[in-house]
Amino acid sequence: MTEFSFDAPTVIRTKRDGGRLSDAAIDWVIDAYTRGDVGDEQMAALLMAIFLRGMDRDEIARWTAAMIASGERLDFADLRRDGQPLRLVDKHSTGGVGDKLTIPLVPVVAACGAAVPQAAGRGLGHTGGTLDKLESIPGFSAEIGKDRVRAQLTEVGAAIFAAGDLAPADRKIYALRDVTATTESLPLIASSIMSKKLAEGADGLVLDVKVGSGAFLKDPAESVALAQTMVDLGRAHGVPTRALLTDMAVPLGRTVGNAVEVAESLEVLAGGGPPDVVELTLQLAAEMLTLAGLDARDPADSLRDGTAMDSFRAIIAAQGGDLSQPLPVAAHSETVTAPVSGTMGDIDALAVGMAVWRLGAGRSRPGERVQAGAGIRIHRRPGEPVAAGEAVFTLYTDTPNRFAPAMAELTGAWSIGQSAPPSRPLIIERMSS
Ligand code: URA
Repeated sequence: MTEFSFDAPTVIRTKRDGGRLSDAAIDWVIDAYTRGDVGDEQMAALLMAIFLRGMDRDEIARWTAAMIASGERLDFADLRRDGQPLRLVDKHSTGGVGDKLTIPLVPVVAACGAAVPQAAGRGLGHTGGTLDKLESIPGFSAEIGKDRVRAQLTEVGAAIFAAGDLAPADRKIYALRDVTATTESLPLIASSIMSKKLAEGADGLVLDVKVGSGAFLKDPAESVALAQTMVDLGRAHGVPTRALLTDMAVPLGRTVGNAVEVAESLEVLAGGGPPDVVELTLQLAAEMLTLAGLDARDPADSLRDGTAMDSFRAIIAAQGGDLSQPLPVAAHSETVTAPVSGTMGDIDALAVGMAVWRLGAGRSRPGERVQAGAGIRIHRRPGEPVAAGEAVFTLYTDTPNRFAPAMAELTGAWSIGQSAPPSRPLIIERMSS
């Protein structure tokens, strides 16, 4: 490594002024930042320059490879169940509002015979993170080592874990992006997701790429480009990758937050839950099972016969979680009621995500503790009838001075009309490598 040829100000200036970062500059800056030789303030400046100037395909590929090289790559090829190699497959979302899908999806896919090494993330910007949600389960730990991941894959078919030694550069950069307004960038999202996923040892990958106000990239054409970029990165690394472009104009389901989303996921696993969450869970499961060569079983059966719930209980118990304990409930709540009777119109996903973040479900400083009970319950989904005075939303937080800013986010973000808003397909497009 040509350590003495680079310095952070020059690398930052190159990108700030619209130049290309060479392969060697990318390798150097990722390695130096992971080791602590490049400071957070320097990486924050570089991330903002990338946010504003972008990166070309080759820069993204190299940035992703450098992040993979910053840590170890897991390899589960030696693992066996009943004498057979495991069928390892995983999914990742580009981030949405009310997007709790990993929680029911992983046990559904495990119940159907695949093995899921799910390296999950924490909240990012206005979107929630699977780990923050699952950590609202008393005792649950995502900080498990690779030996535990290996044992769980053979014994219970899945592990949901903090990336740890996988792509440690992404762990640091992800936390920095969360608090420096640099999340909404195609190169940074693609490299963040694919570095973790390519390092985690899955043989196939399904991506849920969000489109709409609650997605990081607001322009649908950018979401398509993001999906294509990630599918190409998967192919280049020999991992068959599919992407579903899915609607994120309105929040998914009826809950947004941490513990409230776990509770809703349990409803799905019990055979109920909101239709949009169930539909997308089953579509993603079908894609994952096809990639794993296990499409003989209808994933919906695992929700009907309780095997997905059994699988979820086993995964959570293996990671120390106690589902017999009640989930945390926020100390305070406030309800928004309907001013008139009519039909609920669209609910802006970004506004709801921001409101939930303001209630304490996300972070404004690196490493901040999130509130397990913070969140919003949506009592009326778009198209549902509502009478004047009925509850439309309930907001939850432990810190009541957060209600006013959260309410302000919701102002103008929903409406009640005389007819249902036009319906949009949940699954917009499908891409595969
Ligand atoms: N998920 C990630 O892991 N990274 C992003 O940048 C966005 C969603």
